[in-house]
Amino acid sequence: MLLASRAMAAVPADDRLRIDRLIALMTIEEKAGQLTLLADPFRWRPTGVNPGDADDLNTDQARIARMIRAGGLGALFNGVGAAAGRSLQRLAVEESRLGIPLLFAADIIHGLHTIFPVPLAEAASWDPELARQTARAAAREAAASGIHQTFAPMVDIGRDQRWGRVVEGAGEDVLLGRLFADARVRGFQGDDLTRPDALLATPKHFAAYGAAEAGLDYAGVEISLPTLHEVYLPPFETAFAAGAGAVMSAFHELNGVPATGNGWLLTDLLRRRLGFAGFVVADYTADAELVAHGVAEDERDAARIAFLAGVEMSMQSGLYLRHLPDLVAAGEVPLALVDAAVRRVLAAKAALGLFADPYRGTDPERERLVLADPATLALARQAARRSAVLLKNEGNLLPLPRAGQRIALIGPFGDDPANLFGPWSIFADPERAVTVAQGLRAAMADPALLLVEPGSDVEAPIQAGIDRAVAAADAADLVILAIGESAAMSAEAQSRVEIVVPPAQQDLAEAVAATGRPVVVLLKTGRALALSGAVLDARAILVTWFLGSEEGHAVADLLFGDHAPSGRLPVSFPRFSGQQPFYYSRKPTGRPERPGDSAFKARFRETPNRARFPFGHGLTYGRVRYEDLRVEPAHLPWDGTLTVTATLRNLGNRPAEEVAQLYVRDRVAKLTRPVRLLKAFSRATVPASGTAEIRFTLRRQDLEYVGPDLLPTVEPGLFDLWVAPDAESGLQARFELLA
Ligand code: NOJ
Repeated sequence: MLLASRAMAAVPADDRLRIDRLIALMTIEEKAGQLTLLADPFRWRPTGVNPGDADDLNTDQARIARMIRAGGLGALFNGVGAAAGRSLQRLAVEESRLGIPLLFAADIIHGLHTIFPVPLAEAASWDPELARQTARAAAREAAASGIHQTFAPMVDIGRDQRWGRVVEGAGEDVLLGRLFADARVRGFQGDDLTRPDALLATPKHFAAYGAAEAGLDYAGVEISLPTLHEVYLPPFETAFAAGAGAVMSAFHELNGVPATGNGWLLTDLLRRRLGFAGFVVADYTADAELVAHGVAEDERDAARIAFLAGVEMSMQSGLYLRHLPDLVAAGEVPLALVDAAVRRVLAAKAALGLFADPYRGTDPERERLVLADPATLALARQAARRSAVLLKNEGNLLPLPRAGQRIALIGPFGDDPANLFGPWSIFADPERAVTVAQGLRAAMADPALLLVEPGSDVEAPIQAGIDRAVAAADAADLVILAIGESAAMSAEAQSRVEIVVPPAQQDLAEAVAATGRPVVVLLKTGRALALSGAVLDARAILVTWFLGSEEGHAVADLLFGDHAPSGRLPVSFPRFSGQQPFYYSRKPTGRPERPGDSAFKARFRETPNRARFPFGHGLTYGRVRYEDLRVEPAHLPWDGTLTVTATLRNLGNRPAEEVAQLYVRDRVAKLTRPVRLLKAFSRATVPASGTAEIRFTLRRQDLEYVGPDLLPTVEPGLFDLWVAPDAESGLQARFELLA
């Protein structure tokens, strides 16, 4: 209820009165219009048609313009641009009967014009403050370009790397998921939604969409209620606590009931238990899809089910427009519920200040200035640097000397502007795109020493590609191999059965490795991959994900050592695809495998069930050793505090930025507990050849889990803890929670 009251307090009293008056005046058709969101046909792919002139035309634009004038449409999505936004808004405000402003929404996921690293990459920074800043910058650009609401952040936990949408979230871990959900909501919304640089946040996809069976996007989800509450809901709860004003219902079915027609999920849980006071928007045509799911007879039935379940706004299907009036007339949907839904949507418009200033974000001059701000580009470069993860660096091959070496840059992504941004960058400025080749040349003492050969396409060989690549490698002192997934391979509907480097590129890697030149792999990917062969054996591997507009400069900053890598994996890199779903915080088994004891144990024939590169792993140019773990006192009193300290010793000759991680295992509990669970992490700069102390505190509340009654619980007893550089190693100690 706290959330409800806070959200309503954001709506000024005169707006509340205005909303009540409007609802009293509105026809049922106008109400259905306010509950409808359609794609913006004017600004999605600009056609030069002025929205004000459109109803002379026989097009989709004409239809939409007519609907707005008739007061029959309340919101548009995925169009940007200040000037056309002003014309569209004028249709609603000046030419419709009640003058209710339109809400403009868009998928502003990791930038508008300036593209920041994809969300998974940014989670690899383990620096939520960085994500807050990039969300802020994305909101500043988008709001100046006529957007009010973003369909972000995606806060789905991603534990199956076959699922392509892992790229849109913060990875597999609940703590990271919560911290990044909080940072992104605060970043998008800022302190005050009425400010001209604020976007209403829409955490998605409610809920547990990421747990799709076999990682197949849109497939069903079967999970226990404790897992739903402990793993999949917390990032949403955090996003709501941070003030998110909307939430998106998901496409999938959850335990037999499609999420978008699930009254238990959208009303009992979301409204009553979590106290969410914003509005629920269905994902794209998800209401109509209730028919294909087999829970609705036809579209009218689907509209009824979705609405009664708790979906306030229908996206793109037009179902509410077509069927709500009749459903109300037939008494199948109570008018009072429609009014309550309209009130929620209008409250969001009021919270954004749209009644006071419907033309916010429609000043072309301001748009020009904001989009040209060089500070945004500088932030993109910083974010990109901090998001890359160094998986290995044999013999300290990196950093590279800036001069005197001939470098062969090989692979489809070496000089490829098309795959810098990653998925969900529909409004990216193509001029802001620094490829790796461009970034390296700008940083090299003699750019003529860079040879560039694609060697292969992303998923198919190219004529003589490998021969040319091998010749380039032979002519060079060192190879940088820019390989991996294209942007189109990891995104919505991009599930994979083999999470590997595509075979054509693997062949390229093998041929290049055979030259004997030292190889640095730059791995482009939107998910964890199972690396093998020459890729895995490369002397150095830097995961570059999709780093955005400044990728090339950021990669050069890292390769030449102007900055040291500091990213950490937010997802476990498995040994084989067949281990999926694979995540570090899995449950123990009754038959764990132990060294030398593998008969009738939980094991694969081909591999130990461990990560190739564990969650939390990431190297830097220093070398850090963990020493001297202390836990004080050894017994944690029920209402007391435990202090955990350790020393980080830098054995290298450069300062190291280390992310020390605290993991816990509850030895005995009513429900089985994960083999390890991240409880905290702490960033420390360790001077060259020096040490740094890190300290964590733990209280009983930090040890709570969701019990069989779905409430937080913890029992006295023994716990293991680790202070560690990743989820599979570290210093271990044990303590006891006293009753
Ligand atoms: C479908 C996607 O699932 C959702 O994340 C996105 O926001 C909508 N399409 C709108 O583009």
